[in-house]
Amino acid sequence: MVTPGRYPLAIVGAGALGLHFAAGLAAAGPVALVARNAARADALRAGVQVGSRRLVPEVFAPEALPEADWVILLVKTGDTAEAARTALALQPRGVLSLQNGLVEATLRAACGTTASVAVGQGITTEGAFREGARVQPAGAGETLLPPGFEAVAERLSAAGFRARIEPAIAAARLAKLLVNVAINPLAALFRVPNGALLAPPHRVLLEALVREAWPVLRQAGLDLDEDAALARVVAVATATAGNRASMLQDVLAGRRTEIDAITGTLLTMAEAGGVELPTHRAVFTLVRRLAPG
Ligand SMILES: NC(=O)c1ccc[n+]([C@@H]2O[C@H](COP(=O)([O-])OP(=O)(O)OC[C@H]3O[C@@H](n4cnc5c(N)ncnc54)[C@H](OP(=O)(O)O)[C@@H]3O)[C@@H](O)[C@H]2O)c1
Repeated sequence: MVTPGRYPLAIVGAGALGLHFAAGLAAAGPVALVARNAARADALRAGVQVGSRRLVPEVFAPEALPEADWVILLVKTGDTAEAARTALALQPRGVLSLQNGLVEATLRAACGTTASVAVGQGITTEGAFREGARVQPAGAGETLLPPGFEAVAERLSAAGFRARIEPAIAAARLAKLLVNVAINPLAALFRVPNGALLAPPHRVLLEALVREAWPVLRQAGLDLDEDAALARVVAVATATAGNRASMLQDVLAGRRTEIDAITGTLLTMAEAGGVELPTHRAVFTLVRRLAPG
């Protein structure tokens, strides 16, 4: 049993990405991992294979937490509010989400009036997936953090992750949301790897989703013109041609998807501006039919 103390860094969410980051960070210094419950924490304490590394994490359940200076949140978006409350119980200086979708509002609402705690959402293109009991890293990426999270960026960099502060983090989040609203629902609906979306019959829908989303995201601060937006989505689908998007993995595993935080967020933004996005509305409804959001 690990004695609770104060950690420089904690990760809430011991899934694919949480364990991937934990394995790298643990090799460079102490990191606390928070699992969903005591049973999961006990199981993880026996060790878990993460790529070529055997991680024996310092893992805790929400009922018996240590303290931590900084917390990285890596649960699926539907679990954000509960995980944020756990994060706050670690008495941190800041809580950083690296989830997909836009969750900062949920995070701020869950963190309430604790003004002394920094709250922010960064983005990451690190990848990992669960394969039975083990976690398989899916290629190194880059992690961009909001200003104020320099200490976290330093720890990630020291552990060998490409990580930096991005002053224009809001625009970067919107660019990631653009990619996610285009690729994720289509991959899940058609059950195809990302690269298949570049060819007929899927390509016409991919382009429709990008062109519908673009004015809304541009209005919100996306720093790409319309052609560059499409080029960005095509580049990601090309670079990840053989990958199964996370929403497809969720559908295939019968798990809840992140459609609410991805397409749902876009639809809410559009509604606030009095705009209809019929293609996004259709894929939102269809994905919700496949699996609850
Ligand atoms: N995987 C990737 O390659 C990747 C890349 C970029 C971004 N992301 C984003 O990162 C986030 C996490 O993705 P993932 O693939 O790592 O998901 P995942 O494998 O499902 O892991 C999420 C983990 O969070 C745990 N959890 C749920 N609620 C919790 C709570 N209240 N307290 C503590 N732990 C809790 C889950 O426990 P249970 O197992 O008990 O449900 C699960 O182990 C998502 O928003 C995803 O979109 C993932």
